[in-house]
Amino acid sequence: MTVRPMRWWDIESVIAIEHQVFPETAWTAEQFWSELAHVPANRWYVVHEDEQGVDAYVGLFALAPESDVQTIAVAQRSQGRGLGRELMRGLLDEARTRGCSHIFLEVGAQNVAAIALYGSLGFEHQARRSNYYGPGRDALVLRRSLREESVS
Ligand SMILES: CC(C)(COP(=O)(O)OP(=O)(O)OC[C@H]1O[C@@H](n2cnc3c(N)ncnc32)[C@H](O)[C@@H]1OP(=O)(O)O)[C@@H](O)C(=O)NCCC(=O)NCCS
Repeated sequence: MTVRPMRWWDIESVIAIEHQVFPETAWTAEQFWSELAHVPANRWYVVHEDEQGVDAYVGLFALAPESDVQTIAVAQRSQGRGLGRELMRGLLDEARTRGCSHIFLEVGAQNVAAIALYGSLGFEHQARRSNYYGPGRDALVLRRSLREESVS
């Protein structure tokens, strides 16, 4: 895999993927600028590139002992090839390296693919937030301990 830190000049490509995979809840360029402003203090963002350019990215908030998956997305052209799992493994390793003891994330209750990925990586259901992504669109809060080795 070609994985490297996300830089400001990647934001345009990242936003294009945001609109493709999160049509109703895409982050703005300003949100990514704001996130990158906290790298490396309490954020970690990386992108993956294929021959066409950036095709996936992942972002972590880490302030030990807490950490959160801020975002993860794989462009449609590259989904289903193991990229999401590899990026999540890297993120879990980074959170552990930064001394975090556990990690949280929010995921759409209907997002079958992401829920399956997180479940296979050892995340467990913690709570449900009604209408988190808009009317009728709940979020699940998932949590994983970082004290044991990663699974899958
Ligand atoms: C969720 C996402 C990051 C997964 O990335 P990916 O590279 O396509 O996934 P991988 O190929 O690494 O697959 C990892 C696991 O995810 C699950 N998965 C992936 N695609 C799936 C699908 N279409 N249906 C059900 N499960 C799926 C499986 O558990 C899979 O493991 P397996 O291959 O052993 O069965 C990707 O689909 C994506 O970017 N989706 C849109 C954005 C999004 O929903 N982000 C998460 C927001 S919380």
